[in-house]
Amino acid sequence: MVTGGARLAGEVEVTGAKNSVLKLMAASLLAEGTTTLTKVPDILDVSIMSELLRRLGCDVARDGGSVAITVPARPGHEADYDLVRRMRASITVLGPLLARCGEAKVALPGGDAIGSRGLDMHVAGLQKLGATAVIEHGYLVATAPRLTGTQLWLDFPSVGATETLLLAAVLAKGTTTIDNAAREPDLIDLCEFLVGMGARVGGIGTSTLEIDGVESLSPTTHETLPDRIVAGTWAVAACLTRGDVLVRGGRADHLENALDKLTQAGATVSVTPDGFSVRMDERPKAVDVVTLPYPGFPTDLQPMMLTLNAIADGTAMVTENVFEARWMFVNELTRLGADVRTDGHHAVIRGRELLSGAPVSAHDIRAGAALVLAGLVAEGTTEVHEVHHVDRGYEGFVDSLVALGANVRRESGPDPLF
Ligand code: UD1
Repeated sequence: MVTGGARLAGEVEVTGAKNSVLKLMAASLLAEGTTTLTKVPDILDVSIMSELLRRLGCDVARDGGSVAITVPARPGHEADYDLVRRMRASITVLGPLLARCGEAKVALPGGDAIGSRGLDMHVAGLQKLGATAVIEHGYLVATAPRLTGTQLWLDFPSVGATETLLLAAVLAKGTTTIDNAAREPDLIDLCEFLVGMGARVGGIGTSTLEIDGVESLSPTTHETLPDRIVAGTWAVAACLTRGDVLVRGGRADHLENALDKLTQAGATVSVTPDGFSVRMDERPKAVDVVTLPYPGFPTDLQPMMLTLNAIADGTAMVTENVFEARWMFVNELTRLGADVRTDGHHAVIRGRELLSGAPVSAHDIRAGAALVLAGLVAEGTTEVHEVHHVDRGYEGFVDSLVALGANVRRESGPDPLF
């Protein structure tokens, strides 16, 4: 329940990145023994991944922000539908299981309702590495006694496909190159984690990764990088409410495009020794946004920018190039009085002074967070339903908002799964 009108001011701490830590957890399967991850956010998706690893025979123990994953000599190789359907990132266990066990059977994932999110590049790449990979009865089944390094080229710099192929190639025989690889900071974090395990990965942070396969990897200890999407969410929240927020731990260098858009909207962004701050003193100006793979504008912050433009001075066009069904959020935003029209990949938003509180539903993590932000600039009260989606990616979201001065309270408990 969000009552609009408050200006957000103060400090907020950014947690470890969801999209990084889930992959690090899955990648820990590559080495027998105990891998320890630090700065692990306390979010639902981490609980889901922990449960998935336990079912594969691992021991997963949390102590504050640290998670210790103990992997057996021979992990199980099947990831069942009941967990995988909850979270698309479950597919990340595919590469490590295939590399470690010579076989993997992973249910086709569910996750957010933001598009068709195919797996064709994962499958084609594994086949080129010498695996037999087929989709049957709702499962992706892959086998290969040992993968063999090869040259791979992705049609699109897919984050998930780059990760699957990288995680399969680190234990393959010989050298693999992945061209047109994704360059997201989460991927750099994963590469550095793998190097810490003894993998040989070159071209880290570029669109060509070169992997020299090794015979085995060792467990490691690794600190998760800060979540740029969470940091970006706080930055937009400050801008939206004409507030002043220090985003402690936020990496401005991972958000250059997004912070530049906020500056264009009229905000003052300052990089500090321990993060960055965003201050906004006037009504935001409308800004056009085009989502693209990193270092382009992140699709995961697109719903927040639609929200910002919904109350901005002027008209903006937001273009979505990564996920075709991300406009489901628009229906909810229009329930709050936003003036948005979509046509194909484009949305045109005419800014209004204020939105108007109404009941709305979150369809995915980012839409859920953006709807809460929209409630902050809506007259009256906004009831956001299905908030369990927000729990998947934001630790203590409501508490942080309240600490910044928002008038928000949680009405429902956590998701009943755990
Ligand atoms: C990851 C992030 C997600 C982010 C996205 C893009 C996680 C858990 N999720 O998702 O938050 O929004 O990157 O930055 O890290 N595609 C295919 N075939 C494939 C693979 C992908 O068609 O084999 C398409 C997808 O349908 C989608 C687009 O490529 O339209 C981008 O997907 P991808 O980059 O793989 O995103 P995810 O890894 O799923």
